[in-house]
Order: sequence, then C-alpha cells, then structure tokens
Amino acid sequence: MTNEQFPDNFLWGAATSAFQVEGGNQEDGKGLSVADIRSYPKRHQQLDTTVSVDHYHHWREDVQLMKELGLKSYRFSINWSRIFPNGDEVEPNQAGLRFYHHLIDELVAANIEPMVTMTHFDQPYGLVKKYGGWVDRRSIADFVKYAKWLLKEFSPQVRYWLTINEQAVMVLATDMLGIDDHLDEHTRYQMAYQANYHMWLAQAEVYKLCHDEYPNCMIGPAVSYITTLPASRKSYDMLAAKELEDFYSFAQMDVAIHGVIPKYFENELANLNIEISTQPGDEQVLQEGRANYLGVNWYCTTIVEARRDADPNGFIFRRINRVIDPDLLYTEWGWNFDPVGLRYGLRQLNDRYPNIPIAITECGWSEREELIEGKVHDPQRISYLHDHIHQMWLAIQDGVNVFSFNPWSFIDLLSNGDGMEKRYGLVFVDRTNFDEKNQKRYKKDSFYYYQKVLQTNSLQPN
Ligand code: BG6
Repeated sequence: MTNEQFPDNFLWGAATSAFQVEGGNQEDGKGLSVADIRSYPKRHQQLDTTVSVDHYHHWREDVQLMKELGLKSYRFSINWSRIFPNGDEVEPNQAGLRFYHHLIDELVAANIEPMVTMTHFDQPYGLVKKYGGWVDRRSIADFVKYAKWLLKEFSPQVRYWLTINEQAVMVLATDMLGIDDHLDEHTRYQMAYQANYHMWLAQAEVYKLCHDEYPNCMIGPAVSYITTLPASRKSYDMLAAKELEDFYSFAQMDVAIHGVIPKYFENELANLNIEISTQPGDEQVLQEGRANYLGVNWYCTTIVEARRDADPNGFIFRRINRVIDPDLLYTEWGWNFDPVGLRYGLRQLNDRYPNIPIAITECGWSEREELIEGKVHDPQRISYLHDHIHQMWLAIQDGVNVFSFNPWSFIDLLSNGDGMEKRYGLVFVDRTNFDEKNQKRYKKDSFYYYQKVLQTNSLQPN
C-alpha cells in the first residue's frame, strides 16, 4: 500500500465531449455543428458523428457505470447546436435543454459533480453559413447568448464551467473553425487568428457575467497545454521551446488569467503578417472578464530544437523541428509517455499563476484495442494512470493547487483525429468504425484500477 493520499474533497473525474460520444446528431431538433460537418468527408476512413458511441441513447446506463466507477465528477460538453440548432435563434430548443437536464439530474442523484464545457469544437454550422462563424464579430453575441442560457438553466446544479475547449487547436487546424481548406495559408491564418480574438472576447464576457450573476460558480478555459521541452541545453533550443509553449499554450492562459494579450503573441502575429481588427473598449472587456480556474488538457510533452537556418522573423512553427526522444515510449500516433513532464508543467503553471486552482480536464493514453472473451486488458493505460497520478500527487506536495483529475476518456469515443481505431476509454464500446454492432459497454482493466484509486482516495500500485 502507498500513502499517497489525496485531499478529502479531491474531484476524481473522467472526461468526454458531446460530438465524440453522443450520436443522435440530428435528433430532437439538433442542428449540425462544425464537428458534424467536418466528420462527413472522412466517412470512408472512419465513423462520423451520426451515431458515435450513442451516448444520446445510453446515457442512463453510462451514468450507472460512472457511479460504479466511483466518479466524484464528470467532465462533459453541451452540444451547442442541440440548444441553438442554427446558433442564431432567440429561444433555445427545449428538447435539447431537456436532454441535459435529465443527464445532470441523474449525475447529481449519483453524487457526481458535473463539470460542463460550453463548446468543444462544435459551433453550430448555421453560424458558419450565416457569417463565417467565429471569424465574424457577431459570433461573440451568439456565444454569450448561449452561455447565458446555460448558466441560467443549469447553474444551480453545475458549479464548474469551462468555456471553450482547446481554442489553440482549432486555430491551427483551421477547418475546425469551418474555414475553407482550399484558401491559401495566409488567408486561413488571418481568419483563424481573428476568430481567436473573438473567442477571447466572448469568453471574457462570459467570465464576467458568471462572476457577477453566479458567484458560486467557477469558470475558466480548457486549454491544450503542451509542455514543451528543449532538445538540448543550448540557449537557442531552450528559447525555441519557450517561444512555442508561450505562443501555443500560455497565450491562452495569460489572456484568461491576466486579461491582457501578451506582447510575445502579437509579435508572432506580426511575423505572420496578420492584423487583427479590434474595437475601442475591447481591452477593457478582456481586463474585466477573467477566469477563476484553469482547465488543463495534458497528454504528453513535446520536444523541440531550433531550426537555426530559419528566418528569425518567420512564424514559430517554421522556426522549430519536433524531436523524438528514443528513451521515451510513444503511442502509435506519436504521443509520448512522459509523466514527469506533468509535474514539471504543473509547477510552471503555479509559478506563472500562483495558487490558481487547476483541474486537469484531460489526460490519457490511446491504443488499438479489442475485446477478448468479454475483457479488455490495457496495462499500458494503467501504468499511464499510475505514473501521472503519482506525478500529480508530487505536484500537489510541491504546492500546486490541483483540485480535479479527469482522464480522457471515460468511455471509448470517436477520436478527434482517428475515429474508433484510437481508443482512450476506461470503458470499452463494442463497435468499430464501420460496424455499429450492439454498442455494448465493457469495463476495461483500467476501469478497475481507477476504481481502486477513487475508493481509497490514494495512488494504488499498478
Ligand atoms: C484533445 C481534445 O485535443 O485531445 C479531444 O480536447 C481529443 O477532443 C483529444 O479527442 C485526443 O485527440 P485525438 O485526436 O487523439 O482524439
């Protein structure tokens, strides 16, 4: 037995997102979202969002499994286009609200604290058709209207809110914002960083609204935190790693926590010849609306070296090369197993934002998996959980204020990049990309491992 005990009220959770688990993508009045539309062209290689793992019809059974697992919290997202099918309606879709009321009631009855993401890659496609989505300033008002409804409907039961999931990922993979892939790169980035700016303003308005009207709630962004390490101790490699990490991850957090767009971020946009259109009063909006906790999606470290032949005024992604560390294990998809990186990353967060409450909103290991005689043995995921929980525990001893841990994912789901081949779940879903089968749920070995951690509120041997 270990004595790595966690604080009494530690929120042990698990995470999913709407388009990746729900299915029912046109049921009960739901409109299509960017995530739905984006999944269709890949139909020949992987499943789309039509059925996903059918949580829309299995939610009761899924909550029972969460209860059996012993979850204290569950991070999920609300499908924006279930509530506002086209995005621009004045009144919400009642059937959409009802679905989440049922889900949240069931969670609360099971003593599971809901942690809700307002949008996880799924802006209503209607807004993209109408005015280009996040690229247009009108998107701010449509998001704020949506967020207002969510807070009004669900805030008595939902205390933990996350505004936008992984904004930096959407901005780099511009089709995730509904931007036409055929446009040239400069035009796409110009549009995407304008969208990024609108998302910052929209979130700031929602942070302020939430603090003013729902002071018992906590609200923050869910940021993709890629802890970036230099390939050597040479100053140019260290600077390259810092510049990438600042631009990609810390800019998102600095704006949410400090309410100011950092100079290093503006310099990178200048390197790209991008000009952001702003309005008077924007600075004040950012300053007045700040997050009071950080949702951090953490999977692995990224190791980079400086490209010393690159133009020093070129875009950061052209000034670095990614390096593979032969001493680390990598998934088939190139994500490393580097748990000490988590502790190091958490320490960096605490240095930058002293004592900020942190929820690890995603953290997980992917594998190809199959069901063998009703069982799924996933020792690598167990060791990933063990080692990352251990490093998180050490970070808490270091003084980092981590209050929640949510492995990605509670259940197998449609991977954002790779369909059903790449599984992350503690619960296996019996379906493949092209065969829906019966979608029966099976508990993997990692489910039982994590259950023991939750029962004892402490690290368990793997
Ligand atoms: C995060 C996202 O980027 O990483 C999730 O918030 C996603 O939606 C997860 O599923 C893993 O990425 P992928 O591409 O392996 O599914």
